[in-house]
Amino acid sequence: MKLGETTEIRHLMSPLDFSVEELEELMDTAAKIKADPEKYAHVCDGRIIATCFYEPSTRTRLSFEAAMLHLGGRTMGFATADSSSAAKGESVADTIRIISCFADICAMRHPKEGAPMVAAAHSKIPVINAGDGGHQHPTQTLTDLMTIRALKGKLSGMTIGLCGDLKFGRTVHSLIEALLRYNDVKFVMISPEELMLPGYIVDELKQHPGVEYKEIRKLEDAMGELDILYMTRVQRERFFNEEDYVRLKDYYILDKKKMGLAKEDMIVLHPLPRVNEISVEVDEDPRAKYFEQVQYGMYIRMALILKLLNISVNE
Ligand code: NCD
Repeated sequence: MKLGETTEIRHLMSPLDFSVEELEELMDTAAKIKADPEKYAHVCDGRIIATCFYEPSTRTRLSFEAAMLHLGGRTMGFATADSSSAAKGESVADTIRIISCFADICAMRHPKEGAPMVAAAHSKIPVINAGDGGHQHPTQTLTDLMTIRALKGKLSGMTIGLCGDLKFGRTVHSLIEALLRYNDVKFVMISPEELMLPGYIVDELKQHPGVEYKEIRKLEDAMGELDILYMTRVQRERFFNEEDYVRLKDYYILDKKKMGLAKEDMIVLHPLPRVNEISVEVDEDPRAKYFEQVQYGMYIRMALILKLLNISVNE
């Protein structure tokens, strides 16, 4: 933030930090940017985003950086904890105090749940949670919502299958919370027993009596009823032992045969990276939308940067 500006700083920790109306506005802005990127090419001239990634990432970090670059701004940051002062024992609170002096906005990923929230509490610039442990990943959710809205035309009235690691998969947790605010959404949770949703998410589902959800084991049993299939990888880095990971990692593999059971207009999403859970033969199926999803991710992050920096672009 520039000296003398007094606007209240907003952060993004969870998709619920934005109202449904604000989410709609963000998606509208992202769609406008997608339609006319030239118009937005200099709106962040002179602005800097810091990407502070204490955990590996390809898409999310580069997507934030690409978003800022396409808005005319610049980027700085680190991609691993060992290349930051965290390796010397610096706290997240101190690091963000420093970053606040250098950058206008910060996207932070951290293996510890809640770390970006601690950063936000000590920050003079907006902080975006770019994934905290197995907890939340709100900008992936913005990406998912935008993709669903763009490809299905709406967010309500969908039957969505969430498949894979529902225990540690933070993208799933954030997406469920966000979709619970839309009407008539049905969830089919598809996971092995050991990777079922955490209790706190199940409790949230139960607090919405109008929402239908079921928990099943076999992907084949759900395929025919789904409008959206959201595949996830088994989160190896959150396992306590390698044997459990090895036993569970190939529990689900989406292949051509299973795609044959799905509706003609079902779409397959995945936050990526994909390991084995979607066979590469599915990539050529027109219903496979996970690479398109990545593109929406950049546009929605552009819209998010503009919103958190209070930059409005005239119609
Ligand atoms: C996801 C994440 O980091 O949680 N990746 C991403 O940001 N697109 C999903 C994953 O790592 O499996």
